[in-house]
Amino acid sequence: MRKGNRIPHLLYSVARQALFLLPAEQSHQLSLELIGAAGRVGLAHLMPNTHCRPVGCMNMEFRNPVGLAAGLDKNATAVEGLMAMGFGFVEVGTVTPRPQEGNAKPRIFRLPKQQALINRMGFNNQGMLAMRTRLEKVRKRDNLAGGLIGVNIGKNKDTPNENAEDDYLACMDELYDLADYLTVNLSSPNTPGLRDLQSKARLQTLLSKLRERQLKLAQGTGCYRPLLLKVAPDLDAQEIQDVADAVHATEIDGVIATNTTLTRPIPECHHASESGGLSGKPLFELSLKCVGQMRLCLGDEIALIGVGGISDTSSALKMQDAGASMIQIYSAFIYQGPELVRRIASAW
Ligand SMILES: Cc1cc2nc3c(=O)[nH]c(=O)nc-3n(C[C@H](O)[C@H](O)[C@H](O)COP(=O)(O)O)c2cc1C
Repeated sequence: MRKGNRIPHLLYSVARQALFLLPAEQSHQLSLELIGAAGRVGLAHLMPNTHCRPVGCMNMEFRNPVGLAAGLDKNATAVEGLMAMGFGFVEVGTVTPRPQEGNAKPRIFRLPKQQALINRMGFNNQGMLAMRTRLEKVRKRDNLAGGLIGVNIGKNKDTPNENAEDDYLACMDELYDLADYLTVNLSSPNTPGLRDLQSKARLQTLLSKLRERQLKLAQGTGCYRPLLLKVAPDLDAQEIQDVADAVHATEIDGVIATNTTLTRPIPECHHASESGGLSGKPLFELSLKCVGQMRLCLGDEIALIGVGGISDTSSALKMQDAGASMIQIYSAFIYQGPELVRRIASAW
């Protein structure tokens, strides 16, 4: 570890021990508030710089290839602070058109021995209008030092699947101009029926409507914002091929693989049987396989962001070898803090 990086790393280790004494969601909320406040007053820029090469992807320049995956900053309250922790890009959301509470608490569980989390949050978020207000302020402050913002969009729980496209289109209309790219999330296991939208029959119809709107918005605003699809790790080989076919047919810009898994590739342990999606280290092999198969089906040209269980430089580079253009992390950032971002970014 470089000398200048030791102080933030030590501070994080101490803060982490204190935060892990709180229940997972409370510690998550408190951390996000602190990071958000530090970012807004510019304190986060005391963090050491990440030394790394920029990466070109989807005709944009990412200052480094390590992104924060969706779900940590659901309401875009801490974008600047998170960006200052060294991420090349931060994906906010999942945001839905209307605010919603999500599932009953407790709904996040730590599995520290496995370096994993199980969550069944259920898209708790303050809705697209609140996100618009926050992102407008972030854009005005212009404090991101070249870091890019992805906006991950979803549907409200009480919107039937037949009308899902209305929710995705509403979020696109509201947030298009504030995002550097948009992600269509069809893969959360915690919104009943959502993953059914990944099926061959429905996917192509939905994606072509979103693509049509993207092109219209690009024409109207004069700015092209890439559109990506985020998929589950629980797809079989045929389903991965079907997704890739739909991506080719509709000409959307990329895929993010993967979300959390409904499977439990872990030994019996406390919380292992909680319902929800499993993330972190035990997800890695499943996500890696999905990224590898997806790359074969997509061909070389389409952007593919690898996410799921990346916990060190070696797992990040395996994702790269499997065909990932860039990567995202979530669970390992919770367990290890910002030093991990810097390590992976400088090894890429
Ligand atoms: C508590 C929690 C909440 C999440 N919420 C979302 C979400 O709202 N939208 C989304 O696309 N993914 C969400 N995810 C999935 C992550 O973005 C990521 O795909 C997954 O955790 C795998 O990465 P990891 O193993 O590095 O954590 C969430 C994950 C966790 C742990």
